[in-house]
Order: sequence, then structure tokens, then C-alpha cells
Amino acid sequence: MRPLYRLRQCWKAIFPRITAADAAWIQSLLPPAARALFLRMNPGGRRHGLDTARMLSAWENHIRSRLSAAEYKELLQAALLHDCGKIPFRLTVGQRAARVLLEALPPSPRLNALRRRPYVAQALTAAAAHAALGAEMAGRAGLSREVQTLIARHHQPQTPAEHLLAQADDIC
Ligand SMILES: [Fe+2]
Repeated sequence: MRPLYRLRQCWKAIFPRITAADAAWIQSLLPPAARALFLRMNPGGRRHGLDTARMLSAWENHIRSRLSAAEYKELLQAALLHDCGKIPFRLTVGQRAARVLLEALPPSPRLNALRRRPYVAQALTAAAAHAALGAEMAGRAGLSREVQTLIARHHQPQTPAEHLLAQADDIC
């Protein structure tokens, strides 16, 4: 992962901010149960979901030539909630930073030992499991099968819509 991108993500995770206009936009996109799920995400996760959705809305003209209005709305819903599967793990900023560092550094026996420490292992488990778990949680919050699939595949995109979500996620 690009170091500058990761640095920006860490900054946003530490100093997140959601404006009244952002909150109104989220309310227009998510039904109540999904909104409650969004609010269960940590502040950094909410800001990242919002930035990802905002990025997709900036590409609206390009996207709307490929997706219907309903598909576009589902894409924005998935963007807002794509990392909601991290909620149960309650990761600290330190755990997230440790995972970023481990991804950036070349493997070594010492780092492999670090990976097995419970504090770090939990962050790695969250990274591996959150997409599938998030899809389940979105389903329980009443979101469509399409939104669930977008969330489930946001790190392994297959369709054009899934690629758009993964691209926006990568930038934000
Ligand atoms: Fe993710």
C-alpha cells in the first residue's frame, strides 16, 4: 500500500470530522437500521466510508452512464458501510498502525513473530474477515443483496461497480 496514502488515512483516523451537510447526505442514502450501523463504526471508519462515497459521487457522471439510478444508490450505500465488518474488532489506532507497518515492511522472522502477538494478530484477523462479516451485517441492517455483495468483494472486485468501489476505497 502507498505510504503517503496510508499516512493520510492515519491522519483522518486520528482527526475525523463529519459536517452537518455530510450527516444530511448520509440520512438521504441509508435507511434507519443501516444508519444505526454506520453510527456504530468508529469515527475514523465513518469518515473513511464517507470519503469513499463522496469520491464515487464526484464520479457520478462517469458512473451513471454505466449503472442505473438504483445501482448507483446501492454503490453509495456500500461505500458508506464497506468497512462496517471491523466494528466487532474494536481496533485501536495502534493496532491499525501496526497492520499498516507490517504490510509495508518486507517479511522477516522477527516480523512473523510480531504477527502472532495477540494485539497484532487481532488487527490481521480483522483485515482478513471484515469484508464477509460486513456483508452479513449490512444484510441484517436490511440492505439489498447487491449492497452485501459489493461490501463482500470490496477487496476482491469482479464487476465494474465493485472495481469502482475498490478504486474509491484505495484513494480515500
Ligand atoms: Fe476494507
